[in-house]
Amino acid sequence: MFVSDCININEKGHLTLGGCDTVSLAQEFGTPLYAFDEEQIRQNARAYKKSIDDNYGGNGLVLYASKAFCCKEMCRICNEEGLGLDVVSGGELYTAVSAGFPAKKIYFHGNNKTAAELTQALDAGVCRIIVDNLTELELLNKIAEEKGVTADILMRIKPGIDAHTHDFIRTGQIDSKFGFALETGEAMQAVKAAISYKNINLAGLHCHIGSQIFELSPFELAAKVMLKFYADIKNETGVELDELDLGGGFGIKYLESDEPIEYSEYMKSVASTVKECCSELGVKVPFILIEPGRSIVGSAGLTLYTVGAVKTIPGIRTYVSVDGGMGDNPRYILYQSSYEILCANKANEERSLTATIAGKCCESGDLIQENAPVQQVEAGDILAVLSTGAYNYSMASNYNRIPRPAAVTVRDGKAKLIIKRESYENLTENDI
Ligand code: LLP
Repeated sequence: MFVSDCININEKGHLTLGGCDTVSLAQEFGTPLYAFDEEQIRQNARAYKKSIDDNYGGNGLVLYASKAFCCKEMCRICNEEGLGLDVVSGGELYTAVSAGFPAKKIYFHGNNKTAAELTQALDAGVCRIIVDNLTELELLNKIAEEKGVTADILMRIKPGIDAHTHDFIRTGQIDSKFGFALETGEAMQAVKAAISYKNINLAGLHCHIGSQIFELSPFELAAKVMLKFYADIKNETGVELDELDLGGGFGIKYLESDEPIEYSEYMKSVASTVKECCSELGVKVPFILIEPGRSIVGSAGLTLYTVGAVKTIPGIRTYVSVDGGMGDNPRYILYQSSYEILCANKANEERSLTATIAGKCCESGDLIQENAPVQQVEAGDILAVLSTGAYNYSMASNYNRIPRPAAVTVRDGKAKLIIKRESYENLTENDI
């Protein structure tokens, strides 16, 4: 019945995560609380790593897309598991470096990096900067020249693929703010410019077609389009690129009815497409990078809330209000995302109530889920929203000056605080 292997029910009828009683977690750390099963995160990381070994003979690297969930502990876990890191801002880079993450395994993304961020990336010695546009390419060359260094780059290409996902998390099609378009000739022009710049070393190309994708074909198609472009570059410039970053975007199970593709399946079929294309086109198989975010951390996390008011509007609906909301999980208000919801202290009871789970912000749209099945809940119960490990903490805000929740990892039945709950002092510390 559960969306993730790390979730179960114990003898008390309480929901468990990684063998830990979630009701006890709520008591010990307070709510709202983000909780992550560390072992699940590590297993996901290992599965991706193994698939690079199995399908590319180890000639590749898995980068965790840290925008999904970025904090020092997550960076440490990724480092221990041998992953690289995709960062997308000076803040993510700073977090990774402060956690001791080796800069040589950091890839710096972003569609509008500032001069300060490019400088920060070069000073830190990141492995690659993924260049998004000509303005940035020129700026990076200039900054690198001033520093007397060479910037190793990938270039972000829009492969023109329309993956079936929510409009806001679709990025591979031509109408996107990310990257260089192939169709218009812009990408080839940028490649030639990059090759000509003295302080730029173009190592390869990158694409990312979107997020929460459940189909294989868009990934295969993207690989084909990219490799065809590798061949075109070789023919037009004589340069054979060494690296290909295929991005992230693999879907996870939010609802029991969701059926995501096994990562190993995705990796196998894309790898065979890559190898076939390379031999057909006469280009060498490049070093392969992938950037999973959601699928490393999403199903390993859940959020715990305490139920407050339960309001039944006869003939309309029942609102169950919780002590968090759009501040800690803006995904419903942004994308109408679906989640499974369980009452952690009544997890073995039937979900016989249909309820709208509402947050505590002064905003009618502040909902976590509408008309969702849940146990018969009352004030004081603990609600668990499942699969919230990705893009929840990382997209959280302080709207209404509500402090951001704490986060814990659980492993071997023990919980560890990894992010402290924000205090009111934290909220006002930058106010003058
Ligand atoms: N690489 C690049 C360049 C990306 O832009 C992203 C996600 C990823 C990798 C990781 O994709 P994943 O494997 O996590 O799907 N806030 C949205 C998701 C936005 C994704 C942005 N880019 C959400 O909550 O669904």
